Order: sequence, then C-alpha cells, then structure tokens
Amino acid sequence: MKKLVILTGAGMSAESGISTFRDSGGLWEQYPVEQVATPEGYAANPKLVIDFYNARRKELQHVKPNRGHELIAGLEKHFDVTVITQNVDNLHERAGSHHVIHLHGELDKVTSSREPNNPKYIKTLKPEEWEVKMGDLAGDGSQLRPFIVWFGEAVPMIETAIEYAERADIFVIIGTSLNVYPAAGLLYYVPSDVPVYLIDPKEVAIASGRKVHVIRKGASEGMEELKNMLLNEPD
Ligand code: APR
Repeated sequence: MKKLVILTGAGMSAESGISTFRDSGGLWEQYPVEQVATPEGYAANPKLVIDFYNARRKELQHVKPNRGHELIAGLEKHFDVTVITQNVDNLHERAGSHHVIHLHGELDKVTSSREPNNPKYIKTLKPEEWEVKMGDLAGDGSQLRPFIVWFGEAVPMIETAIEYAERADIFVIIGTSLNVYPAAGLLYYVPSDVPVYLIDPKEVAIASGRKVHVIRKGASEGMEELKNMLLNEPD
C-alpha cells in the first residue's frame, strides 16, 4: 500500500465548530498567544492558562468529527495513512484514524509542570474530568498542566514526523496556514518526486516554491475531491 501522509491544522476542525487560530475572530484574537500559549504566560498566571485549556477541553465534549475527518479515516482502506496533526483535539482518532501523530500535544492529556514530557507523569483525562484545578498535582508533586506544546517549547514528535514525511508516497496538507515551525517545515522533507496536495479555502503561501496541487475548498469538500483523485489514479 502507498504511504499517504496528511499534515492537518486548525482548519481541519473548523467544520466541527472549533475556531482556528488566525482566521478573523480566531482564538488568538480573544486570547493573546503570549498569555495562554507560552511557558512565560503559564509562569505568570497559571490559573488563567489552566482555565483557558479547561474551556477548550470542555468544548471537546460538544463537538464531533466532520466529514473531512471521516474521509481521512476511510482512506485507511486504500493507503497506509499517517496523520500528522498540529491540532490538540482528538477528532481524527474519534473519526477512526489509527495512526495520528500530535505535534503540539493533546487537549485530553495533562502532565507535570516540572517534567512535561516525562511519560511517567502524562495522564489522559476522561471527558467528564475536563476541569483541572490549581492544586491538582502530577505524580512529582508539581501542578498538573496541559500536555500542550507551547511556543518556545520543544516539539518532541517532530523527528518522528520528519521520518514519515521523508517516506511518503503522497503528501497532503489540510487546514493549516503553515505559519508555525517546525510543523510548517515538514514539506521540505518530502522527496521532490512525491505529489503534494493542499486543501484550504484560502490561499496558503508555500515558501519552498514547490509545485502543489491546490484544492481551494474546505476540508470536507476538499477531501471528497481528493479521494476521487487518489482512487482514480493509475497505480
Ligand atoms: N477547511 C479547511 N481549511 C480551513 C477551513 C476549512 N473549513 N477554514 C479555515 N481553514 C484554513 C485557513 O484558511 C487557514 O489557512 O485553516 C488554516 C488555519 O490556520 P491557523 O489558524 O494558522 O491554524 P494552524 O495553521 O493550525 O496553526 C498552527 O499555531 O496557533 C498555533 O499551535 C497552534 O497548532 C497551531 C499552530
């Protein structure tokens, strides 16, 4: 089976009702990045940050995967699919995707404030456990914090993601403005003879000047079109 690697961003979950970051009215308009998505912001006001992610985690209970997530999961019948996502929601998994690499962490997980990437301290919250409080402690006695990669923090999964990008037979980009590195740099590791598709209703600047098949549509419609293209392609 051909290896299909799909890099997704916030636009992938837009049709599920989760706001993107940089679209007008996006998340960062309401909550400045510095305050809620940096280690400095967390150190300055941990409760504000804990509450910000509590609100996003609670929202997860009321949203569900969209057609685009489902179509991606369905492609596992035809391809060896790896999803590399910048999203911290679990909608790819809930749609049935079996191999999802989260570059920026996962909303339904919490961890130690002292050693956030120590697997010993990473805990998965049940949906009903959505609310983390100040005073809830990790195994090492530090405050439980979101298992999210904040700006300026290491992206432990990037090496794994690069290996998949290097071995892709087909590379697809859906719903990301490619503003944030190292995720945005994955395209550079895709061999030059590998076809690249990009699904986004807006124009996305591709720095590398690489030839990309653009599908100027939303994730669900775009995935319908891409599925037809990929399944009708001569092997
Ligand atoms: N379908 C597909 N794409 C869409 C849709 C849709 N229905 N609606 C919007 N988009 C596109 C936008 O045009 C934009 O290109 O999704 C993209 C969203 O871009 P951003 O808001 O910048 O989100 P993302 O690229 O995922 O941000 C990367 O930055 O904010 C940090 O850590 C955060 O993971 C995030 C990272």
